[in-house]
Amino acid sequence: MMTANISFPRYCRIGAGAINELPAIVASLGLLRPLLVTDAYLTGTGAADRVLALLVDSGLQAAVFDHTVPDPTTESLDRAVQAVRTHNADCVIGFGGGSPIDSAKALAVLASQGGPMRKFKAPSSYSGPALPVIAIPTTAGSGSEATQFTVITDSDNDEKMLCPGLSFLPIAAIIDYELTMSMPPRLTADTGVDALAHAVEAYVSRKANPISDAMSLSAIALISANLRRAYHDGTDHAAREAMMAAATQAGMAFSNSSVTLVHGMSRPIGAHFHVAHGLSNAMLFPAVTAFSVSGAKERYAECARAYGVADPSTSDDIASHRMVDALGELCHDLAVPTPKSYGIDHDLWETLTPLMAEQAVASGSPANNPIVPSLDDVERIYAHVYE
Ligand SMILES: [Fe+2]
Repeated sequence: MMTANISFPRYCRIGAGAINELPAIVASLGLLRPLLVTDAYLTGTGAADRVLALLVDSGLQAAVFDHTVPDPTTESLDRAVQAVRTHNADCVIGFGGGSPIDSAKALAVLASQGGPMRKFKAPSSYSGPALPVIAIPTTAGSGSEATQFTVITDSDNDEKMLCPGLSFLPIAAIIDYELTMSMPPRLTADTGVDALAHAVEAYVSRKANPISDAMSLSAIALISANLRRAYHDGTDHAAREAMMAAATQAGMAFSNSSVTLVHGMSRPIGAHFHVAHGLSNAMLFPAVTAFSVSGAKERYAECARAYGVADPSTSDDIASHRMVDALGELCHDLAVPTPKSYGIDHDLWETLTPLMAEQAVASGSPANNPIVPSLDDVERIYAHVYE
């Protein structure tokens, strides 16, 4: 029996208006020179300026770097490392969706240790010196505010690298659902399905443990009850609040367990076809679950019960397959496209499939799947989900 290593951020502030506690948290950590790492969208809406004003008004020497990119690349980080050095920052604050937060995490390590980023990719794990990271999510999905991972694309070969270790775990997370109220329906759906994938994958993973299990089942129930509501009515405060809690719980779950085959196969789709992370997960989620379900029937059955499509009297056999059906229905209701209807060229998909399969397996995530797939299995699933 393996022991489980459990880690969470040292500080979490959760709830409406939690953002206002940012200066107090920075001060309590003895930090003076934060660099706010965000993207052009959030400077455009004025949201980043409001966070900067909070910091400056409380006497902190804060600066902004807003050139992070979606699915951050090693190239995009070069400029950001310069910004950390120029400002002489003593901490980085990741403000935004998964990409700005993942960028901030990578910067915290790169600014202290130097590159290249690939030396931190799995199976290596880094817990040495780094700047402290404070994470403030503006989407309810990536869970990055609570995970000990960052995902960075190597600009040299388009590989999405999973980089693990406690130095990538934020020391503080500010989880304020009011920041997610303006997410449009597509982003709400994609990030919400990403969170559901984290929860289910952490639960069926070979690394699951009693702590991650509790986080997973709670997140699955919350997402089932609230994702469609938030998708159809973005002003639904209760649904937004529940989705935010679920996303963080799901992040805590997979950070302390792992993701599995959905994420393993999703990263290469994102890297080669620039499909948003949550969407590439959603494209795979029902088919990968159908492939995996017989390897952990009881576990998928518990997911189905938490999701509300089975009860304690339903047999594991029936319940586990209801989970597969429920995921198909969810993706349908949230208008998740196939790679084909998304506009990905069939020939290119086929040509890249062997490479994507190789990269998926090499990431290590599929090795934690209830059924460990062969390269052939992975290629078959890529072929199957295309239409
Ligand atoms: Fe994810």
